[in-house]
Amino acid sequence: MKILFLGDIVGNGGRAAVKAFLPGLMDEYGCEFCIVNGENSAGGSGLTGRCVQELMEAGVHVITTGDHVWDQREFAGELPRLPQVLRPANAPAVQPGRGHDVFEAPGGVKIGVVCLLGRTFVNATADCPFAAADRIVAEIRRQTPVIVVDMHAEATSEKTAMGRYLDGRVSAVLGTHTHVPTADQQIFPGGTAFQCDVGMVGSRESILGRDIEPVLQRFTTGMPARFTVNNRQIRLHGTVVTVGDDGRARGIQRVLRDMP
Ligand SMILES: [Fe+2]
Ligand SMILES: [Fe+2]
Repeated sequence: MKILFLGDIVGNGGRAAVKAFLPGLMDEYGCEFCIVNGENSAGGSGLTGRCVQELMEAGVHVITTGDHVWDQREFAGELPRLPQVLRPANAPAVQPGRGHDVFEAPGGVKIGVVCLLGRTFVNATADCPFAAADRIVAEIRRQTPVIVVDMHAEATSEKTAMGRYLDGRVSAVLGTHTHVPTADQQIFPGGTAFQCDVGMVGSRESILGRDIEPVLQRFTTGMPARFTVNNRQIRLHGTVVTVGDDGRARGIQRVLRDMP
């Protein structure tokens, strides 16, 4: 089967691009299942129930998140009613929601999805993502060998380490968070597809989806600046992974689309 994974969806513009491109991409690549990282879908920071609904209506099956998951205050109350949304699995257990689950694709294949948060330069208070992965992957493999891991992290080394660590145990380890796609997609010897970062669905005339000017101001003056989202000239970055019934990846291919 083929699974489409889209990187961090940024703001209205990102959501509009998902709506515009998703049905066509699923057809064109023959994908049955779509996972997106939605941590920036509500105005660039966090998620809301309404954004989640919008993405589901566009054809998304599962939404992963990351360090921005709680940026919208009401979302902690909304998440328990949104089983398609995963918060980081290695966050403190007291947090609402869950970090992994097994879903059923329209064709009937069971797909385990895991959301992990890195600790290097991102979130030093998260539990060890490697120990969490050991526990969760063993649990999911009792139900299905088809498993996709979103490794939401800053350091390329931490993400690559997770890919190598889980090689042979999951179908794909795909990185998110930096919003910049990497060209290192490959299938590791054990059968795990890997890409350090899938990229974002956000403005190509921006700095990581934010308007350029305030970010430059912060860097050049060291003074606080409000980071606004650029919702124009959206570029969609995604990755299609082909997975066999045995859970081993057979292919990995990057996807790019520009909104007119
Ligand atoms: Fe992000
Ligand atoms: Fe992030």
